[in-house]
Amino acid sequence: MKVSEYAKHLLLAGSLEDKLLPPSRQWEEETEFTSIRMEAPGRSPKFQFSDKKVKIPRLEHLNLQSNRGLSLHHFANHELMAIELFAWALLAFPDAPRSVRNGFLKTIEEEQTHLKLYLNRMRDFGIDFGDIPLNYIFWKQLGQFKTLESFSAVMSISFEGANLDYAQIYAQVFSYFGDHLTSDIMITIFEDEVKHVKRGLRAFERSIPENGNHWDHYLSLIQFPFTPRRAKGYLYLPETRSLAGMNSAFIQSLGDYQDEYTGRVNLESVKKFGLGERILRKNRLDS
Ligand SMILES: [Fe+2]
Ligand SMILES: [Fe+2]
Repeated sequence: MKVSEYAKHLLLAGSLEDKLLPPSRQWEEETEFTSIRMEAPGRSPKFQFSDKKVKIPRLEHLNLQSNRGLSLHHFANHELMAIELFAWALLAFPDAPRSVRNGFLKTIEEEQTHLKLYLNRMRDFGIDFGDIPLNYIFWKQLGQFKTLESFSAVMSISFEGANLDYAQIYAQVFSYFGDHLTSDIMITIFEDEVKHVKRGLRAFERSIPENGNHWDHYLSLIQFPFTPRRAKGYLYLPETRSLAGMNSAFIQSLGDYQDEYTGRVNLESVKKFGLGERILRKNRLDS
């Protein structure tokens, strides 16, 4: 199989089993180098995009298994979109450096692992994927994915970056409620997402003009109404961005960024759950 054929399979075949087909270890030589920009993924009827708004449960309500299941369903949807969009990028950017394309394949494989982790755990909570409407927030950004750099700025630095905050927040809250199994899943995913942000940074940084400013360059790659707000959780954990190798001035600028949504979230839960007091890591007991 060629990488492009594999990417088309992930994008166009509709079942979860298809979306979970792992990348091959060996690829046939690519012969097609024209950029293909698919407008939407193929999906079975149960997994179609929906515009219905679904509220995600409040952190204080995660003592209930059903609410944990709803939250995981929401995260699983992000993983599915990530699988599809990294496949999209393989087709859209055939000229990307080989290291970047190999990174996309590795990322796809890890997103597939994340999706499986969520699917299995959700079923323990009585929820199956597609039981609840699926938003398509990542797919809505297609218009911004003009170049490899803007794709990385939106997908990796922004969405996957924000996920570093959220994975920590949820790992800490699940653990607070005594659900260590789900908390560990969040930490496993956190560790992979650190690598994903790192990969995205590599693609982004190679496009920064000499002596250019990382933050200004990032701003030049994203388009309003998408703003840097998307690149962080409602609680920002700068230490997680250092782990991903983000430039310290960039980490600071992202922390300083404010808009009309800043401060709207009730941060009582920050106090209640002790969120952000420490960063949970894999193998934390032996470090
Ligand atoms: Fe993921
Ligand atoms: Fe990721």
